[in-house]
Amino acid sequence: MNGSAPATPGTPQPHPRSTPIDLTAAHAIPAADSTTPSTPEQPAGNTVEHIGAVVYFSSASENTARFIESCQLSGIGIAVYRIPLKPGSAPLNVREPYVLMVPTYGGGDAKKAVPPQVKRFLNNPANRAWIRGVVASGNTNFGTAYCAAGDIIAAKCRVPFLYRFELMGTREDTRKVRDGLARFFRDHRG
Ligand SMILES: Cc1cc2nc3c(=O)[nH]c(=O)nc-3n(C[C@H](O)[C@H](O)[C@H](O)COP(=O)(O)O)c2cc1C
Repeated sequence: MNGSAPATPGTPQPHPRSTPIDLTAAHAIPAADSTTPSTPEQPAGNTVEHIGAVVYFSSASENTARFIESCQLSGIGIAVYRIPLKPGSAPLNVREPYVLMVPTYGGGDAKKAVPPQVKRFLNNPANRAWIRGVVASGNTNFGTAYCAAGDIIAAKCRVPFLYRFELMGTREDTRKVRDGLARFFRDHRG
């Protein structure tokens, strides 16, 4: 599966280079935050318990957007927020635990691997306080830079690199991410 070798089928696996962290201690919530949270693109379904959220970015090629669509996350109680593509759009404000899903850019230049829109989102400390994990995508043609955005964000935000997939993902990726996210949020409440 695109170079990742999960130990347990159906579970997003920590990336080999990521280190376990104390999720409660590492993410103190800022004391005063009166920002109104943004509305999710897809709210968690109202017939299921709301267990968490995914925040994603996708460029005009929309590969990540297609992958998100195929995961059908609202049906398992996961709200989906999209980081806006255009610089003039209102900034996204997320105030609940989320896993970030991010495509890699930069063509091997580590400084450009994380899309500027994602940097802007994470540069807001109130957004950063709620990140719990990262899933990255990319293209294996980029060799050692494959999914590099996941390594960078995991290290900077001190969260686990849960999974990586290529382009719009396979059916197996969809199943593993959907099942793995459900388990991840159940195991990391709060
Ligand atoms: C200009 C450009 C640079 C890219 N650089 C990388 C890279 O360094 N590493 C990687 O794994 N994938 C790289 N990719 C592949 C993208 O991550 C991949 O196409 C992804 O699915 C794009 O997602 P999106 O359509 O949702 O934006 C690059 C793609 C483009 C167009």
